[in-house]
Amino acid sequence: MKDRKRGTFSGKLGYVLATAGSAVGLGNIWRFPYLAAKYGGGVFLLIYILLAVTFGYAMIISETALGRMTGKSPIGAFRSFGGGKLIQAGGWLNALIPMIIVPYYSVIGGWVCRYLWGYLTGGAALMADEQMFTSFLASPVATEVSFLVFAALTMMVIFGGVENGIERVSRFMMPLLAVLTLVVVIFSVTRPGAMEGVRYFLIPDFHHFSLMTLVSALGQMFYSLSIAMGILITFGSYMKKDVDIEGTTIQVEIFDTLIAILAGLMVIPAVFSFSGGDAEALGKGPSLMFVTIPKVFEAMGGAWIGILFFALVLVAALTSSVSLAESACSTFEDELGWSRKKSAAVVSIILVGLGTFSCLGFNILSGLTPLGMDILTFFDFLTNSLMMPLAAIAICFLILRITGIEAISKEMHISSRFRREKVYIFVMRYLVIILLLVILVSSVLEAAGIIHI
Ligand code: TRP
Repeated sequence: MKDRKRGTFSGKLGYVLATAGSAVGLGNIWRFPYLAAKYGGGVFLLIYILLAVTFGYAMIISETALGRMTGKSPIGAFRSFGGGKLIQAGGWLNALIPMIIVPYYSVIGGWVCRYLWGYLTGGAALMADEQMFTSFLASPVATEVSFLVFAALTMMVIFGGVENGIERVSRFMMPLLAVLTLVVVIFSVTRPGAMEGVRYFLIPDFHHFSLMTLVSALGQMFYSLSIAMGILITFGSYMKKDVDIEGTTIQVEIFDTLIAILAGLMVIPAVFSFSGGDAEALGKGPSLMFVTIPKVFEAMGGAWIGILFFALVLVAALTSSVSLAESACSTFEDELGWSRKKSAAVVSIILVGLGTFSCLGFNILSGLTPLGMDILTFFDFLTNSLMMPLAAIAICFLILRITGIEAISKEMHISSRFRREKVYIFVMRYLVIILLLVILVSSVLEAAGIIHI
């Protein structure tokens, strides 16, 4: 967005809704439960929450304050402080991440569309069949068509410039999603054998801890809170000076984490009740939600719940994918001076290209397994475990070395008492860099097959 067009959020509520809208999405409902199931249950949850209230908190504050201070999007914000080429590369890194995420995000969005369609036309029993998902993924045409439907919905919003419309829809759909999830949770945890799943998910058992628990919890925290990809810098730049950054950050974190926990309670106990809860069932990965939830819906007796659920998830996913695609577009508009049409066209091409590649990874290209992962998981790993820690390091470096922590504190004090200032400073000074380096090094070693975490 060009500076002259830069709007502002109407106030605190506008900011919280926009940020929560971009935060709550497939990350909470699809990604969080499968990672928690796979990487340790209760320990994963505990580490996730600890990271969110320290590290996540500090990162949201940093990005939002940087954005509000400079009034710019990530590349511009990094540039406005001077700094070397390396620092400016940090800005580009932040801006690049959404361009890689939005294609594979849209592939999962396509899965959601396929399930919504399935419930509308096929019924609950059909969708609950385990073969259903496997044969869907094995078909290049089916996966591609579903992906294109979701991608087209996203780009229609971008081309049409009707983000406000979708935001208005999501305003009442999101609370509805929370309520519906709660209903499914109550049903799910009362199935025979489900309590063991509740225990697995809520009570930390350190025998289940591995380095991968830490790495995946950190990646998930970035992903779910939409940190380390410049989005919050952009949002901050739209924020008025009197909106309390500290208060809004806490609200967004609480809402986002609650939805993730509810999704976990919906999926994990069901894995125990319907699939035994052994390591294989828990380690299903990206397909977990699509295999487990339909079984719950079948037991609940009807397609209606499936229709309602997947329709709401679709809206939550769309608000997120639109804001990712929007961020990619505005980078082109701002940095390369392209028109909105041209930017949107280029984003569409990247979206279709990389997204198709991810789809084919489950069928025609299933022999292609970079770092032993399917292509979608590879893009997911590349962004969450490698690029985002690097982007976060760049932001911390910018603050520690160039703007100074005081500049952020000063910006924060304009609008709040900044009660957790000491926590913020401590996390920024010590925790962030150490943690990031540990994660980055271990992900690289793991990827290279040198260690197994
Ligand atoms: N947080 C979103 C989710 O949980 C995914 C996401 C990551 C996102 N980065 C984003 C959404 C940037 C919007 C903008 O699904």
